[in-house]
Amino acid sequence: MQILTKITEIQAACKQLRIENKSIALVPTMGFLHEGHLSLIRLAKKEADIVVVTRFVNPAQFAPGEDLDAYPNDAEHDYKVTKEAGADLLFEPLSSSMYGENHATWVEVPEMAKFLCGKTRPTHFRGVCTVVTKLFNIIAPDVAVFGEKDWQQITLIRRMVQDLNIPVRIVGGALIREDDGLAMSSRNAYLTKEERSLAPHIRKALLLLDEKVKAGEKSASVLTDIFQKYIAKNIPMASIDYMSVVHPDSLESVENIEDKTLIAVAVNVGKARLLDNILL
Ligand code: PAJ
Repeated sequence: MQILTKITEIQAACKQLRIENKSIALVPTMGFLHEGHLSLIRLAKKEADIVVVTRFVNPAQFAPGEDLDAYPNDAEHDYKVTKEAGADLLFEPLSSSMYGENHATWVEVPEMAKFLCGKTRPTHFRGVCTVVTKLFNIIAPDVAVFGEKDWQQITLIRRMVQDLNIPVRIVGGALIREDDGLAMSSRNAYLTKEERSLAPHIRKALLLLDEKVKAGEKSASVLTDIFQKYIAKNIPMASIDYMSVVHPDSLESVENIEDKTLIAVAVNVGKARLLDNILL
């Protein structure tokens, strides 16, 4: 596996691969890789001849006061596991090369960014869409793989690709969990021992809601109430950022569950903001 840091180097490498008629799959990450990321690399390997992984903590998607400076990092571990998972190229640019001093161009999907995470992180998806567009332009992949853990993110990216006619196929990878049900996340590293032992209750709460819906409950407000009470009882130090019952494609709120519905949640536990979701 080759590790490249310069935009010109990765562009030249990808250009050469295209001359050789090789298809390219891209897996963008912010590093501190876990099984969730690695599952995407393995999936990418099935989708194209060459897998390019990017490892870049994108400052544009963090607001002032968020965890940009504290974001966990372990380069040696990342190199080892990326290689083992089958990546061919690892691109890790410097922040200064991705965002020049005069950077002034942004890519946004405001209609979809205003829901869920966008309520408390209003500039987050603008940063995500901009960096993902830049990576698409630099690497020109045939396929790009994103995890369904970040449901809103992949939904926005699909819309952006469609709206801007970006010639890339978006593939979703299933949400990967720890054995006790906690959604894997680089940010789980922020949890104390006690918080970590209680965090799987987020998944348990979602499974409880799934049961309620299967038993005939249709009201989003009743489900919200059940979720809030369950979390207050089982993770007393938690604060719920949002618990939203939405249409999985439009992300618009649903009051009465009739059709395919997504429940997406963000729960703050100590220093960690934990995301999870369940498709009903
Ligand atoms: P990051 O949080 O590092 O995640 C990189 C990719 O891994 C994303 O597509 C994310 O959805 C996926 N992922 C994370 N945890 C997962 C899990 N438990 N199961 C399945 N997939 C999982 O998401 C980002 O970085 C950034 O926003 C990025 C897209 C790289 C743009 O900066």
